[in-house]
Amino acid sequence: DWKTSSFIEEKVNEIKSVVGNHKVVCALSGGVDSSVAAVLVHKAIGKNLYCIFVDHGLLRKGEAEEVMNVFKVQFDMNVIKVDAKDRFLNALRGVTDPEEKRKIIGREFIRVFEEEAEKLGDIKFLVQGTIYPDVVESGVGKAATIKSHHNVGGLPENIKFNQIIEPLRELFKDEVRRVGIELGIPEKIVKRQPFPGPGLAIRIIGEVTEEKLEILREVDWIFRKEIERSGLDSEIWQYFAILTNMRSVGVMGDERTYDYTVALRAVTSIDGMTADWAKIPYEVLEKVSNEIVNSVKKVNRVVYDITSKPPATIEWE
Ligand code: XMP
Repeated sequence: DWKTSSFIEEKVNEIKSVVGNHKVVCALSGGVDSSVAAVLVHKAIGKNLYCIFVDHGLLRKGEAEEVMNVFKVQFDMNVIKVDAKDRFLNALRGVTDPEEKRKIIGREFIRVFEEEAEKLGDIKFLVQGTIYPDVVESGVGKAATIKSHHNVGGLPENIKFNQIIEPLRELFKDEVRRVGIELGIPEKIVKRQPFPGPGLAIRIIGEVTEEKLEILREVDWIFRKEIERSGLDSEIWQYFAILTNMRSVGVMGDERTYDYTVALRAVTSIDGMTADWAKIPYEVLEKVSNEIVNSVKKVNRVVYDITSKPPATIEWE
């Protein structure tokens, strides 16, 4: 529409005149805000924008490939993918406390990002996908921290760049989505459900290991595909799986098993501040549960989380 395209034009001109011929860097995660901000800046300055995509190994199945495919192949942007899986797994070894996990991931993320940015030489500008609700939330009167959020769009201020470019600062989420569509970003990215910066690490209760990540990726994939196939994805705010740290006894053929319990979480919400558990039809849950226990090794039990927020939170950690 007219309003969206004039917003884009205005921002493109503004970015051009602010940046000139300098190099700009951004952290790309595949999340809605950072994606839209990056494409907008790319439209203004092209190859002078360098996107750093830190693959911390805590992403969902297929996610890293999808991000590379959209931004590097389709948009022909400069995207540097950093494979930091081992680094993150090492840093997380033996850690079970949720806040501790979040802090480690946030800290490592900034280190990796800074190291990569340094390699690019003289960088003056950093792009961030800050949107209006982020601006308001970080203002005065903010409630006590429940979880220390790590948001790829919101690197802490101590990061050493001269200037921050935040082209989406005045926009609400639905406006950001409209800008994204207008810029030609695929719907699967623009309409993507929220995904936490610390990724699957906070959906694995207890220590994070490669084996647990593999189990959770498969389970989560099955649940996601089935929700999308049933068309429920448009009504549900977030749907994902959790690998609990609990094992229980089961039977497979005539063998006793002692394997993991996974939980499915699906909620409806307007803004993520409060949420209700989604009333998914039994047939869909049945199908998902059967497929999980039949095809994912080391899982013999599936439960569905029927708590609202509050008192539960959306994520389990
Ligand atoms: P909770 O679990 O607090 O989550 O009910 C509310 C919303 O925030 C998302 N979330 C995060 N997003 N970095 C993010 O960018 C984080 O560290 C983080 N932790 C939770 C969560 O997925 C939900 O949409």
